[in-house]
Amino acid sequence: MIQDELSKALANVKTPNDVEQIRIRYLGRKGIITNLAKETDFGKLSPEEKKDFGQKLNRLKNFATDRIQEALNRLTAQNTATATVQTHRLIDLTVPGSAGSLGALHPISMVQMELEEIFEGMGFTVLDSPEAETEFNNFESINIPSDHPARDMQDTFWLKNDMVLRTHTSSNQVRALKRFGAPFRGIFPGRCFRYESIDPSHENTFYQCEGLMVDRGISVANLIGVMKTLLSEMFKREVKVRLRPGFFPFVEPGFELDLNCLFCGGSGCPTCGDGWIELIPCGLTHPKVLEFGGIDPREFSGFAFGLGLTRLAMMKYGIRDIRYFNSGDVRFYEQFAPII
Ligand code: PHE
Repeated sequence: MIQDELSKALANVKTPNDVEQIRIRYLGRKGIITNLAKETDFGKLSPEEKKDFGQKLNRLKNFATDRIQEALNRLTAQNTATATVQTHRLIDLTVPGSAGSLGALHPISMVQMELEEIFEGMGFTVLDSPEAETEFNNFESINIPSDHPARDMQDTFWLKNDMVLRTHTSSNQVRALKRFGAPFRGIFPGRCFRYESIDPSHENTFYQCEGLMVDRGISVANLIGVMKTLLSEMFKREVKVRLRPGFFPFVEPGFELDLNCLFCGGSGCPTCGDGWIELIPCGLTHPKVLEFGGIDPREFSGFAFGLGLTRLAMMKYGIRDIRYFNSGDVRFYEQFAPII
């Protein structure tokens, strides 16, 4: 049988040239298969016989062509494999490898994630919120009407459609109260913007994390309790805090919460000056804010605080210059990559 002979011949080939020789022997101009057609006297065949013969001949040709191609493919694959093995022999396994580079979370993301976990543990919901705000949410609804001097402190970026790049995350207080009602416990972390000249401690783009808790009978004691829990968890030790009066139109009374300096323990050092670090503005929610949120201030009271996320990250990681955060300088971010 021609097929068997061909297959046997192809099984022993070593080079593409061997295959070519076989191709010529079977399919070449004077090849065995080609000759079959030439040697047949078609004139003597009936139409049926012609047809039958033609089909068989074609099948044979296809069979031969396919087997030959397969043999060639097999040889190429073997050659590549051999070549690879040979190249690998040239590799010096004793040369030290080069480590791939790993990405890192931004220090602000890390602090934010940690905060979220701590607050979730205290039953707070974490809410995402828009950076472009209505004037109502950013100012009006939290008791900063357009003629209020507090607006001067936040002279800022206005958009052409009269919206504003939020100057603080307090812009979500009334939005949240309207949506969820009371009692409510939530934090709103996010990016804020102010028209500022930039220096080591001022940025036009920074992060805050607002917190709001509204319920029956909420007092300053609850505010201090939550803040102390937060800071102790964050800095992994008992912390001392103090409240000083502070003014913000949306809280009454309003405070500046100071943290007893973690570097010197309160005796005074270059970082804190007098032993205290001004950290969290806060206070009891102004009745007008509750009313704007559709909550009856005679039934409910609450507290709010505005954590400087950027500030917190600076303290936690000992970052001296706020401008690093948005610098895009990989050397800064790389320092926060996990060590492997
Ligand atoms: N929104 C204030 C600021 O950015 C901070 C603040 C929040 C104060 C909540 C009191 C209560 O300056």
